[in-house]
Amino acid sequence: MIKNDLFLRALKGETVDRPPVWMMRQAGRYLPEFMELKKKYDFFTRCQIPELASEITVQPIRRYGMDAAILFSDILVIPQAMNIEVEMKPDFGPYLPNPIRNLNDVNNVIVPDVNDALGYVMEGIKATKEKLNNEVPLIGFAGSPWTILCYCVQGQGSKNFDKAKEFCFTNPVAAHTLLQKITDTTIAYLKAKVAAGVNAVQIFDSWGGMLSPVDYQEFSWQYINQIIEALKDDAPVIAFGKGCWFALDEMSKSNASALGVDWTISAKNARYLSGGNITLQGNFDPTRLFSPPAEIKKMVTQMINEFGKDKYIVNLGHGILPNIPLDNAKAFIDAVKEYEAS
Ligand code: CP3
Repeated sequence: MIKNDLFLRALKGETVDRPPVWMMRQAGRYLPEFMELKKKYDFFTRCQIPELASEITVQPIRRYGMDAAILFSDILVIPQAMNIEVEMKPDFGPYLPNPIRNLNDVNNVIVPDVNDALGYVMEGIKATKEKLNNEVPLIGFAGSPWTILCYCVQGQGSKNFDKAKEFCFTNPVAAHTLLQKITDTTIAYLKAKVAAGVNAVQIFDSWGGMLSPVDYQEFSWQYINQIIEALKDDAPVIAFGKGCWFALDEMSKSNASALGVDWTISAKNARYLSGGNITLQGNFDPTRLFSPPAEIKKMVTQMINEFGKDKYIVNLGHGILPNIPLDNAKAFIDAVKEYEAS
């Protein structure tokens, strides 16, 4: 049904002529057409109006022809739907005026009916599917429960999420109650997204690497794994854990279809730690997109040779930065499309 199904084939581990490519945060501030809409509408309006969300989703596809689209939205629509106030402050980022700090706060958090609270996301998916016209697959996503807890407790971005960790270590019962509520909401949400038309889902554990390997199992991975188990028969699941190389062994034994890795691990070590059989996604240093286009192309080709063209999805190791030149993003995508196995 999907005309370019390279991405879905890589998720199945099939042999391909070249790996598929997309970029985390590919719909965003490095695109002038995105900035035009950003001037006119605030962040959550862009997420909530299906026409806007779908337009922003297809912008990078029109410009560069990536092999997959990712729905324009945010991981923080989940806490919003759970009755936690979330603002997106210009030049600051997420801000939660009433962070969660005790069991009483956790008890006030609801597990919503996702089709009620997040129906606009499902409408955005339907509008996007129409615009994509089955050219490329559409990825839906959610934050990992741990990463969502980080914002709910810290109240904003942070270098070390110290308040979130302190909450988990001093009040584990409240922390696990909250993590389970987020997990239950996320499972229902991702299932609804698949029903609305997304072809795969990615779980962003952006702050998993803040935890020690033991704490990662307790506060992050067990919840991600619940989501994978609940979704595995609905759609392929990609688990991206930034800084989570230490957990690749455990992650590779799960029913995830692919694992995302950041740029701090070599392809060889990532293959070794993940057992050599599971599809990997990554891991170009986003800041390396400042290198001249010719150098980017060389480095991307080398990256594909190191990971191998099969069971591999080319991506950045984290989201694209706002000030990346357009030609440099193009060089990244083109290098993959021009790839010929040597
Ligand atoms: O990949 C895509 O292009 C789809 C859109 C997308 C956004 N956020 C749009 C966005 C995705 C996949 C996300 C996920 C997200 N959001 C994550 C996980 C991925 C990651 O980067 O680690 C996280 C941690 C968030 C929370 C969040 N949202 C932060 C920390 C910020 C502010 C920092 C920043 O990058 O500006 C946002 C805002 C946000 N989400 C923007 C965009 C395009 C920029 C603000 C704007 O456009 O007004």
